[in-house]
Amino acid sequence: MDVLIAIKTRKSVRKYLKRNVEEEKLTAILEAGRLAPSASNRQEWRFVVVRAPEKRVKLAEAANQQTFVGEAPVVIAACAVTDAHLMRCGQACYPIDVAIALDHMSLAAAELGLGTCWIGAFDEDQVKKILNIPQEIRVVALMPLGYPSDPSVISKNRLPLSEIVKHDHW
Ligand SMILES: Cc1cc2nc3c(=O)[nH]c(=O)nc-3n(C[C@H](O)[C@H](O)[C@H](O)COP(=O)(O)O)c2cc1C
Repeated sequence: MDVLIAIKTRKSVRKYLKRNVEEEKLTAILEAGRLAPSASNRQEWRFVVVRAPEKRVKLAEAANQQTFVGEAPVVIAACAVTDAHLMRCGQACYPIDVAIALDHMSLAAAELGLGTCWIGAFDEDQVKKILNIPQEIRVVALMPLGYPSDPSVISKNRLPLSEIVKHDHW
C-alpha cells in the first residue's frame, strides 16, 4: 500500500474487535512515529502504550466516558517532554511534533489493517494520574488502536479543495 492509499483508507474507528494487536505490528507503528520529523529534530514525543484492561477502562472514563477508548486492545498516550519552546513563528513545537508523529502512526496502522481514533477530549490530569505520568509532562492526545469491527465503511466528509486552497494570495 502506498501512502496515498493509507491516507484514503484511514478513518476514525470507534468499534474494535476483541483481537490482540501483534507485537511486531505495534512496533512497526511506533517506529513510524519515531521516524517523524520534528522542529529542530527535538523529538520531544514519548508514547505510553497501555494494554492493561483496567487502565484502558479508566482512560475511557478520563476521555469524557468515551467507552470505545477502553474497548480497543491498545491505547497509546502521546506525550511530550517539553520546555514549551516556541518556534520563530510563535507556535509551540511540541503539539505539532507530537501530532505529526501520531499521524504517521495512524497511517502506518491503516496500512497494517488496524484502526485508530484521535482522542482530544480527555482530562489531562486524570490521564496523568492513571498512567503515573509526571506533572511536567504534557499529554497531547490518546489513540486507541485495534482491529476495526467494520473495516469496509470509509466516508470522508471534507471541504472541497476549492474552499480551502488559495493561489498566490489569500
Ligand atoms: C485532534 C483531534 C481530536 C479528536 N478527538 C476526538 C475525540 O475525542 N473523540 C472522537 O470520537 N473523535 C475525535 N477525533 C476524530 C474526529 O472526529 C475525526 O477525525 C473527524 O470527524 C474526521 O473523521 P475521520 O477521522 O473518520 O476521517 C479527533 C480528531 C482529531 C484530529
